[in-house]
Order: sequence, then C-alpha cells, then structure tokens
Amino acid sequence: MHILHVVGARPNFMKAAPVVRALHHRAARQTLVHTGQHYDTNMSDVFFSQLGLQVPDVNLGVGSGSHAKQTAEIMARFEPIVLERQPDVVLVYGDVNSTVAAALVCSKLHVRVGHVEAGLRSFDRTMPEEINRLVTDQIADLLFTPSEDGDINLRHEGVAPEKIHRVGNVMIDSLLRLLPAAAQLRMNGLPERYALVTLHRPANVDDSRVLKGILQSLLDINQHLDIVFPVHPRTRQQITKFGIDVNRLHLLEPVPYIEFLALQRRATMVITDSGGIQEETTYLNVPCITLRNNTERPITVTMGTNVLVGQDNRSLQAEVSKVLDGKRRPGMVPPLWDGHAGERIADILLNLSINPQPQEIALSTP
Ligand code: UD1
Repeated sequence: MHILHVVGARPNFMKAAPVVRALHHRAARQTLVHTGQHYDTNMSDVFFSQLGLQVPDVNLGVGSGSHAKQTAEIMARFEPIVLERQPDVVLVYGDVNSTVAAALVCSKLHVRVGHVEAGLRSFDRTMPEEINRLVTDQIADLLFTPSEDGDINLRHEGVAPEKIHRVGNVMIDSLLRLLPAAAQLRMNGLPERYALVTLHRPANVDDSRVLKGILQSLLDINQHLDIVFPVHPRTRQQITKFGIDVNRLHLLEPVPYIEFLALQRRATMVITDSGGIQEETTYLNVPCITLRNNTERPITVTMGTNVLVGQDNRSLQAEVSKVLDGKRRPGMVPPLWDGHAGERIADILLNLSINPQPQEIALSTP
C-alpha cells in the first residue's frame, strides 16, 4: 500500500504529521508532496522540523496567486507526480486550495482520495474554504471526519455512509504530542495576562473599512488587556497597504507551532478568525472569541469554549468583559479528540485492498 500525502499551507502540516507518523510506525510506503502554497520559512519549514515531518519528497513550488491560478498551477504540477509515483491512495487535508486541487487531479486519474477533516461546513459559500470542502468531499472516496456533525453533513449531501469514517481530530494528536514541549518553553517578554490574536480571513482583512474597525477594537481592548498578535503575511500586507497604525499592540512575526501552543495555553483569551485555533482553544479550555458569523466547527461552540461575534465590535467588547469578569462558560473536550486519530486513519488505510477500481471500494465504519 503506497500512500501519498499532499500538504501545502500552514494548517495542513499539523494535520498530516500524526497520520504520517502512524503509517511510518506501521511500515507503510509513503510519499510526501508539498505544493508550496506556503513557502516562507516561518509559515512552512519550521513546522516540518517541529512536527518531525520528513523533508517533502516533492515540492511543487507553486507559491501565491489568485485562487484560479494557484489551484490550476497545483493541478498541472501535481498530475505528472501521480502518474509517475502511482500511489494507491492520496490523502488530502483540511480545506485549502492545495486540498481541492490535488483531489480533483486524483479523481480524474481514478486514484483513490482520502480527505482528512471531511464533513465540516460553515454553510457560507462566500468562503473559499467552504467551496474547497464541498468539492473535495463530493469526489473523495474515504472521508475521515473529526466529529458527528461532519458525518451528518456528509449524509445530507448524499455521501454513501460506507465512505464515512469518524476518526476524531488529527490536530489534537499533534497538540497532545507537543504540549509538553510547549509547557517547558520560556516565552520572554510576554505580559502576565494577554489576549492572543490571529487574523487572516479575506472577509476580515481585505476590506480596509472592516480591517480598520477590527484593529480599532483591538486597540481599545489593549487599553486594559495586552494584545499579543502574530501577524499573518496576508494581514501584514493589508495593514501596510491601508496605512493603519497598530504599533501599540505587541506585534510578532508568524510564530512556530510549539511557540504558538505555548502562547495559547497561557493566554487569558484568544481572539481569532482561524478554524483550527477554535479547536485548539477548546481542547486547552481557553476562552476563544471568533471574529466570524459562522463556523464550520460548531462543536467548539456547543461543547467547547468558542463564541462567535462576527465583526460586531460591541459583541466583541462584551465577550472580552465576560471573560475578564470571570463569567466565561466552561467547555468540554469532544469525543475522539484523544490523540489517536492518526492511528485510526492508518489502520483503516492499511486494511484497504490494494488497487481496486474506485467503484469497488466498500468499507465498514469502525
Ligand atoms: C490559506 C488558506 C486558509 C488557511 C490559511 C492559513 C486557502 C484558500 N486559504 O490562506 O484556509 O486558513 O492559508 O494561513 O487555501 N504569503 C506569504 N508567505 C507564505 C504564504 C503566503 O507571504 O508563505 C502571502 C502571499 O502574499 C499570499 C498571501 O500571503 O498572497 C495569502 O496566502 P494564500 O496561500 O493565498 O492564502 P492564506 O491567506 O494564507
């Protein structure tokens, strides 16, 4: 069984690492392809070393571009790799452009696709990631879901139940493995109490009025609670372009994985528009205020520590005050977020028969 993994952007790396690791322990043949969607050292290389991922066998080096250009470029460069390497299964992760591009290539070549983190839906088709999720799940042969809502969404969309495997949350595998290292890390120069902020969604950073509004809210909060803000390259570009002065905040370059875990676990609260951070804060039992109107991870709201405030400054301020006044809601860790999701995926993959026709795949749910 030859398994080829495709990763491309920062949130893919911590999802792929536990699956690669579990397959390695089971002596499976593996190939790792990096599309090069993220290419800065601090958005990519440092994650590979901290997560113990091997250097990619292939780097497609696509870099940045419009959605169409980036997706098309990945497809054009990935197709010959699949033809040459002849994998039995290609695994794609999450919801980035690399995910959908690789899945499309494989489905046309009749190579089985497994989607890790399948079934998540924000029901907001203005998000590029929602389109990526919908398309990938329609063409994938194996759908590995993190929680029950994923299974329900897929069944509503007509996905055959035997393709769906609820395996739990692979991101939590990485978190659990590297949390001891994060706990030991000395983070010099940090305030005693702080809100950790991340911001990069096009809906929040591409419009100058919206971005200015959010940053003004953060400047207001910063008057009574320090803001620590590792700035995503997209956001940095926009802040510079719009000439916004945010120097009063603790701005950082994007931080490596272990450092970011350390920042999260010590934070008084996290304010974010990321997807994965909603899950990590739920696991860490740190209050999370999400600057979006919807989430593809509703379990972080119903069970976890997450609350959605959209771009509404008053709701944001109210939620910040709640946390500071000790009125935060306690959270619980969802089932199967237990550090073993990668192993479950590996076991399912290694029980597949080699090279059946895609239509012959019939698996039972665990
Ligand atoms: C992508 C994903 C998003 C994910 C995010 C995590 C899609 C559609 N979006 O968004 O789901 O949450 O990654 O970061 O796939 N840039 C650099 N250096 C890099 C990478 C990017 O400077 O290493 C800059 C480029 O100028 C680029 C911009 O950041 O134009 C945005 O990068 P891109 O990969 O297009 O999307 P993200 O916003 O990072």
